[in-house]
Amino acid sequence: MRIFNYIYLKGDRYMKLSNRLLEIISFVPQDSIVADIGTDHGYIPVYLIEQGISNRVIATDISKKSLEKTIEYVRELGLEKNIDTRLGDGFKVIEEDEVDTAIIAGMGGILIGDILEESVEVIDSITHFIFQPMVASSELRRYLVKNGFQIIDEGLAREDDKFYEIIYAKRGKSSEIEEVNYEIGERLIEKKHPLLGGFIKYKIGLLDKISEEIKYKDSLKSRNRYIEIQKMRDSLQEVLSKIEGN
Ligand SMILES: C[S@@+](CC[C@H](N)C(=O)[O-])C[C@H]1O[C@@H](n2cnc3c(N)ncnc32)[C@H](O)[C@@H]1O
Repeated sequence: MRIFNYIYLKGDRYMKLSNRLLEIISFVPQDSIVADIGTDHGYIPVYLIEQGISNRVIATDISKKSLEKTIEYVRELGLEKNIDTRLGDGFKVIEEDEVDTAIIAGMGGILIGDILEESVEVIDSITHFIFQPMVASSELRRYLVKNGFQIIDEGLAREDDKFYEIIYAKRGKSSEIEEVNYEIGERLIEKKHPLLGGFIKYKIGLLDKISEEIKYKDSLKSRNRYIEIQKMRDSLQEVLSKIEGN
């Protein structure tokens, strides 16, 4: 069962927001002008406007069917003046200097990197980036560090047995990152995020599962992968002991 938070809107209406969406929204600066890339249902734009966090949001999606859900929702609530809906790929439907904050949530980390890569001029005009990769978060961190982003902060959300990572970044040169921090965001460790222990245990569990599967495989590739996994497991265990104070 997913946990939803009920948010009351004007005119006796309410919306349901998951922990994941609320954690993403917590990184949006007050009074920002936001592009929500891949908006789908439009919950993020509606929440930002209804709660007075933003006065203008551009909600985009590459899928007509997805965007239609947002168009309908925005019309229902009479928010057309505040939420602009645009059909298109990534930032290709956003002009330079049009927004100061961008959200890309609910997609794979590699796709998020590809979307950024394709619109460098627009990206350069944006100050705040909030990413929520569903998979490949370490690949996304690697992309960001290599391509002129600084990871400023990170968040975590949990829904049942699923964890969601949120990365808040800005343009700028990143300092060196330790290998384990591509896997587990450094900021989460620094601030001893309350969900971090559970998240690391979950990750160790996944690594153990893969290890079991390849343990007896004979190929060089499998043996190297096994060694790599054990190394990452040790690093994660070390972080876990540190945050648990052992
Ligand atoms: C799983 S939904 C996530 C919706 C919402 N952002 C969230 O986090 O709940 C992913 C959405 O991204 C859209 N999408 C995928 N690739 C895209 C791209 N290159 N540009 C814009 N939207 C894209 C999909 O059509 C889909 O509606």
